[in-house]
Amino acid sequence: MGGSLVVRRIGRLTTWTTPRVEDAALVVRDGAVAWAGADRDLPPGVGDLEELDACGAAVIPGFVDCHTHAIWAGDRRADFLARLDAAAYTPEGIASTVAATGAATDEELVGLTHRRLAAMMASGTTTAEVKSGYGLTPEAELRLLSAIEQAVLGEALHVEATYLGAHVVPDGRERSAYVEEVIATLPQARRLGARWCDVFCDDGAFTVEEARRILTAAAAAGLGTRIHAEQLALTGAATLAAELRCASADHLDHVTAPDAFALANAGVVGVLVPVASLYSRSQRWSHAVTLRDAGVTLAIATDCNPGTSWCESMPYAVQLACLCMSLGVDDALRAATLGGAAALGLHDRGHLGVGARGDLLVLAGDHEVDLVAHLGAPAVAATVIGGRVVSESKSSPRRVASSAPTSTKSLSQPVGTSA
Ligand code: NIG
Ligand code: FE
Repeated sequence: MGGSLVVRRIGRLTTWTTPRVEDAALVVRDGAVAWAGADRDLPPGVGDLEELDACGAAVIPGFVDCHTHAIWAGDRRADFLARLDAAAYTPEGIASTVAATGAATDEELVGLTHRRLAAMMASGTTTAEVKSGYGLTPEAELRLLSAIEQAVLGEALHVEATYLGAHVVPDGRERSAYVEEVIATLPQARRLGARWCDVFCDDGAFTVEEARRILTAAAAAGLGTRIHAEQLALTGAATLAAELRCASADHLDHVTAPDAFALANAGVVGVLVPVASLYSRSQRWSHAVTLRDAGVTLAIATDCNPGTSWCESMPYAVQLACLCMSLGVDDALRAATLGGAAALGLHDRGHLGVGARGDLLVLAGDHEVDLVAHLGAPAVAATVIGGRVVSESKSSPRRVASSAPTSTKSLSQPVGTSA
């Protein structure tokens, strides 16, 4: 059962289902939004609820990070330094992460992933997708899916697991045999909790034909489908995403305008991962506007991974989406919340309409624009999941205060993260 909470003295409340409310309050009962409106109109009967004082800060829905590769061991320092020296990103570096991940114990992997999930929550992520993909044998991929489940155990963060056995063809393997092996593993991946199947369809990874085979089989096995498309080159992956009506097509740095319209018509969510565009040094940004102007539903995600986006922070992704990709602040925040939820087919979150999950953020600033305008500062003062405060920033300029009717306690002490 979720928590119950009344958030008061909200400077500006963004729900996406109503116009913005100033001097607002919001009530969460049993984990779901029960009421939102002007603080002065707060209905009677909330006196028994724990109270969170937003101290005039802006409140928005929790971030839904719909694309991460947050389970790995090792580092990619050598690749990173080579790129600072003008080397181009190639998927070849994935092999070194596969080796380091294989060498890590289960305990190490769970611990590393757990710490990344905690960092995500601290920066405002309330639902995250996590892909396997650094195993590349059926046993190793299934081990990663189990470790994801272990890392999430007891956490308030909701995680959607994705099977990405088709990340790259492992060294020394024959392509078509590996594709068949990925397909044969789909039912076990599903049994181990994967809801989604993803394919890295690009130069140096899988072809459009291979991706079509894998994703068609995944859909038949009851998994939702998503695809890494047009990240490094224009290969036809976005056309395939529209043809298969994938839930999302992600990256899309090289997408064409006709493909953008095809994605919009097919209802495929376009997932922008601006940190990857920065970190891989592609210098490609204009696809965001191409997609938006074609009417594609946009999401923004971190793509948290060691090779192209070592970043757990959704606020940072939103800042790049605005400053580099030229999205407006509301468009970017909507993409990072509602858009991410749409990409994962989760319609009970990403907004704060009555009945939605009580997943919300008390921001560090009085205005949501400050989340983009104030760089390098903690953007989130408190993260609330299902009506429970799961993280509060020690260094935020904004401190939030909580008081229960029976005992008054300050949330400046560490707050438990268990659900
Ligand atoms: O999303 N594109 C494929 N996968 C990751 C990078 C993987 C890696 O380099 O480790 C991405 O960019
Ligand atoms: Fe990715």
